[in-house]
Amino acid sequence: MCGIVGYIGPREATEFLVMGLHRLEYRGYDSAGVATITPDGQIALVKAAGRINQLEQLLANNPPNGRVGIGHTRWATHGNPSDANAHPHYGGNNELALVHNGVIENYRPIKQRLESDGYVFRSATDTEVIAHLIDSCLKRYPPVADMAAADYEPLVNAVQAALAQLQGTYGLAVLFRRWPETLIAARLGSPLIIGVGEEEHFIASDASPFAGFTDKIVYLKDNELAVVTASELRVVHRDQGRVNHSVHVLDFEAADVAKGGFAHFMLKEIFEQPEAVENVMRGRLDHDAATSKFGGFNLTPQQLRGLNRIIMTACGTSWHAGLVGEYQIEALARLPVEVEYASELRYSNPPLENRTLVLAITQSGETADTLAALREMQRKGCPVLGICNVVGSTIAQETDGGFYLRAGPEIGVASTKAFTSQCTLLAMLALYFGRLRHMSFSAGKQMIEELQQLPDQIRAALQCNDRVKEVAEKYARCNNFLYLGRQFNFPTALEGALKLKEISYIHAEGYPAAEMKHGPIALVDENTPSVFLMPRGQVYDKVVSNLQEIKARGGPVIAVVCAGDDEAAEMADDVIEVPTVEEYLQPIVTVIPLQLLAYHIAVARGCDVDKPRNLAKSVTVE
Ligand code: AGP
Ligand code: GLU
Repeated sequence: MCGIVGYIGPREATEFLVMGLHRLEYRGYDSAGVATITPDGQIALVKAAGRINQLEQLLANNPPNGRVGIGHTRWATHGNPSDANAHPHYGGNNELALVHNGVIENYRPIKQRLESDGYVFRSATDTEVIAHLIDSCLKRYPPVADMAAADYEPLVNAVQAALAQLQGTYGLAVLFRRWPETLIAARLGSPLIIGVGEEEHFIASDASPFAGFTDKIVYLKDNELAVVTASELRVVHRDQGRVNHSVHVLDFEAADVAKGGFAHFMLKEIFEQPEAVENVMRGRLDHDAATSKFGGFNLTPQQLRGLNRIIMTACGTSWHAGLVGEYQIEALARLPVEVEYASELRYSNPPLENRTLVLAITQSGETADTLAALREMQRKGCPVLGICNVVGSTIAQETDGGFYLRAGPEIGVASTKAFTSQCTLLAMLALYFGRLRHMSFSAGKQMIEELQQLPDQIRAALQCNDRVKEVAEKYARCNNFLYLGRQFNFPTALEGALKLKEISYIHAEGYPAAEMKHGPIALVDENTPSVFLMPRGQVYDKVVSNLQEIKARGGPVIAVVCAGDDEAAEMADDVIEVPTVEEYLQPIVTVIPLQLLAYHIAVARGCDVDKPRNLAKSVTVE
C-alpha cells in the first residue's frame, strides 16, 4: 500500500515528488525514494529507509535534477524496510527505474529465470522482478535511440509483455534512460491517477498530491497502461488497445490536505466531525416524504422493497460502523442484517437468496479484502452498493451503485470522521428502509428532526476535550484497558479499543458489558481501567450492574454518560459527559470521547499519532 508519485513537464521534478510523497505518507512510511532523468540523460536515484525527512536530508546534499521523475513511499511486504529495498528499483544496467504498489505473487520463478539470464538483484523485494523483467522485454525490441513522438509501440509492447507475466497486483510508474521524454504508468488492483496540467502531467496513488497543481484527473483502470509525456496522455488497454480516457474535474483545495492549525491530522479530523456529518446528510433528507433520499441505489423502489436481507462487509473501523448499522437497520427498518469481515467473506460461501443486498463499507475505497469480498458477492449475482469516502476509488467504481460520505480527505491513519459519517449514513438508510416498510410518516418526520440536530450535538460532545485530556493523563501509563457497552454502544466499545490499540500501542479489548462475567472479568485489577459507555437508554440499569461488578473487583471505571447523570458520577472514578441523543444515534456521540482519549493517551506516551507503527492508511494488500 505504498504511495506513488510521478512528474513530467517544465518544473524541477523533485520538488513536486517530495511534496507529493508527504501527502501520500499515510499510505506507508518505512522508506522513501525518488528517481529523475538528469539533463545529461542518466537516471539519478536517491532512496533511504526511514521517513521522508530522511530522504530530504539526502536530497539536500545531492539534489537530482531533471524534469521527469518518479517517487515512492513504502509499506514493506517483501523484504524489510532498508535502503536496498526502498523504491525506486533499477531495471537492467540502470536502464530504467520503477516504483510499485502491490504484491507480485509469482515473483520467485520469474526471479530465478532472470537470474539465470544474468540479472543481478540488489533487493529482497518482489518489485525488482518487474523492473528487470521490463528491461528483458525491452531487449527483444531494436533499440530506438530517438523514438519518434508518435511511435510508442515498441515501448508499450515491451512493458505489456512484461506485465502479462505477472500474477498479483500493481500500480506502477517507470522512467527510461533511453526514452527521457516519457513516463509509463500501469495498474492492476492498486490505485493510480494521472493529473493533467498545462504542458505537464502528474501521477499519484490518490489525488491529494495534485491539490494546488491541477484539478483535472484521469483514473487509470485495471489492465490499463498510460504513456505520459509533458504534452500528451495516451491510455492503452491490455485487450482493447488504445482507449479514450475521460478527464474528471475534482472539487479540491490545497487546504483540504493541510493540518489547519491542529497538532495532528487526527485531532483536526476529530474536530471536523460536525461538518462531516452535515455533509453526509446534505440534500439527502426529504421533509415532504419524511424519509431520506439517495441518488446511488440504482435499484427500483420495488426491488428495494423486496429485499429480505442485507449483508454488510468491511474491515476495521468500517466494520464497526457496519455493526452500528446492523443495530440501526434491524431496530428501525426490521430488516435482517449480517455484518461480515471482508477478509472472511471473500473465502466463505454463504447461502445467498436472490433478495440479498450487499453493502461494502470503506473509507478509502481501496481496501483489498473489501474489494475481493464485493467481487465475490457480485460473481454470485448480488447487487453490491458501496459506502465510500474517496471519490473515484476502486470500490466506488466497481460497485453497482452507492453513496459517498463526503467527509473530505481523512489523512490520520486512525479513522475518525469516516466512522461517524458512515454511522450517520447508515442511520439514514435505516430511515429509508423503515419508510419503505412499516415506519409511519410521523415517525419518519421525528427521525429527520433528530438527525438534523446531530451536528450540534457532536459540537457539544467535542466540548469534553479538556476533561478527556485530564483523564488521559491520569491513565496514560496503564498497559491494559477494557471498553464496555451494550446494544448500540457495543460496537462503539470495539471502536474505542481499536483506536487506543492503533495509536498508543496499549492492549485494549472491547466487549458487550454483560459478557465480562463469562471470562474477561478475570483481567480486572486496580491497574486495568474499564471505560463504560452508559448513556441513558433501555439497558442503562443493566450496564450500571455491570459497572458495579467491575468496581467490586477493584477496577477503576471511566464512565461516558449523558450530561447531568449524577447517579453514574457517584459510582465511577472519572466521568466524561456527552449530550443526550436518541439511542440509535448514541454511537456517533459516545465515540467522540473515545477518539479523544486514544489521541491524548498516545500524545502523553510520545507516540506518532498520525503514523502509528506497523500500520498504513490504505490496506491494498491481502
Ligand atoms: C481504522 O482506524 C483503521 N486504520 C482500519 O481499521 C481501517 O478502518 C480499515 O483498514 C478499513 O479501511 P477502509 O475503511 O479504508 O476500507
Ligand atoms: N511489494 C512491494 C514491496 O514490498 C510494494 C509493497 C506495497 O505496495 O505495499 O516493496
